[in-house]
Amino acid sequence: MNQISVIKGFSKFSKEQKIDTIASFLSTSDEVKSVIKSFWHSDPAVQLIIDEFSENTLTNYFMPYGIAPNVTINGNMYMVPMVIEESSVIAAASKSSKFWAANGGFHSEVISSIKNGQVHFIWPGDISKLREHFSLLKQVMLERTSSITANMVKRGGGVLSMDLVDKTADLENYYQLEVKFETVDSMGANFINSCLEEYADALRGFVSESGLFENKDIHIIMSILSNYTPECVVKTWVECDINAFDKIDENLTAKEFAWKFEKAVQIATVDVYRATTHNKGIFNGVDAVVLATGNDFRAVEACGHAYASRTGKYKSLTEIELTDNTFKYSLTLPLAIGTVGGLTSLHPMAKLSLAILGNPSARELMQIASVIGLANNFGALKSLTTKGIQVGHMKMHLFNILNFFSASEKEKKAAVDYFKRRKVSYSAVQTFIESLRNTPHE
Ligand code: MEV
Repeated sequence: MNQISVIKGFSKFSKEQKIDTIASFLSTSDEVKSVIKSFWHSDPAVQLIIDEFSENTLTNYFMPYGIAPNVTINGNMYMVPMVIEESSVIAAASKSSKFWAANGGFHSEVISSIKNGQVHFIWPGDISKLREHFSLLKQVMLERTSSITANMVKRGGGVLSMDLVDKTADLENYYQLEVKFETVDSMGANFINSCLEEYADALRGFVSESGLFENKDIHIIMSILSNYTPECVVKTWVECDINAFDKIDENLTAKEFAWKFEKAVQIATVDVYRATTHNKGIFNGVDAVVLATGNDFRAVEACGHAYASRTGKYKSLTEIELTDNTFKYSLTLPLAIGTVGGLTSLHPMAKLSLAILGNPSARELMQIASVIGLANNFGALKSLTTKGIQVGHMKMHLFNILNFFSASEKEKKAAVDYFKRRKVSYSAVQTFIESLRNTPHE
């Protein structure tokens, strides 16, 4: 058996030592070191901020940062920053936004902004007795966190409710203390978790030390916010006269387009294979905004997909209402994001994104991110139901293929010209570049 050698104390190494260690595993060690260092920020103070977001940071991983202009939401125009590596996403969001800016714009409304967390505990005691004394316990718990919640209360937030939830039908002796929070403009993860840990300790003490309960054998299993926030929800929609689609495609009338579009949404409602891809297209846009503004895209995705399954069947997050004359298309999405605290105020690019957006409140940012999700989804369905997705995708992908062949600026220009009227594929680009390079120059 191969002996695996463990690197001891890697996190304690200096950055140079970490880079040397990683490079020493590769035959091109010097090149590796120079690539790593070439992505360092030129200002060491900025680099230090980025380094300290995480552990064992060696360098930065670049992603494109772009803007979708002309995003009209509730009558206001936004330039929306997006961070995404997939070539066609910003183009699709921009194109859809331009179309809807001319057709009534996007509408968006935050339905509610409640977040929640649970203390999960196992207790073979008498839950009715705990319920009897619950108002006293609540008082004890709220006092425990008064110093943590004071600032949040000043900003208009705080603890909204506390409840005991009986989960014994699912797991023997399993209960939850469920707490709901309003965290105003912050995502609130640290605030919620700090409160919950205090409540857990108070609950444990109340049951085991107050003398009120015969069974003192309470086990706090964990205290943590939930990333499932079905009460932190934004609804976004577009609405137009069907005639607005008159020129959307040369081969379809406005009515035919609306009908095909409706079928595409219905398919994503009844078929899980399609629903997953449909929702992925929504998250192309949502995640790009969430990332650009320093929010947690993993939380947003996990929640969105759980929400898409809330009826017991995974479905499209969008809904369509089509009449003879009108088209209404909406997206309902849970989005627990913030505009203060965390990375939003530390990452220089997140700060810039928020400034470009006019320093929105968390509620406004929920609207903006969901609008971009709907814009991307509309763009995807529009392409899929008309000329197909690959024409646009491959046109955008052309630059990636050209870069793979280290094409010069002149070669890129020639390729863009050439592929204006031709289908882009990896092999077609390769053939084109090879023939260009094999043609003798005068
Ligand atoms: C690609 O990233 C996203 C799409 O597949 C979304 C969709 O099919 O709706 C185009």
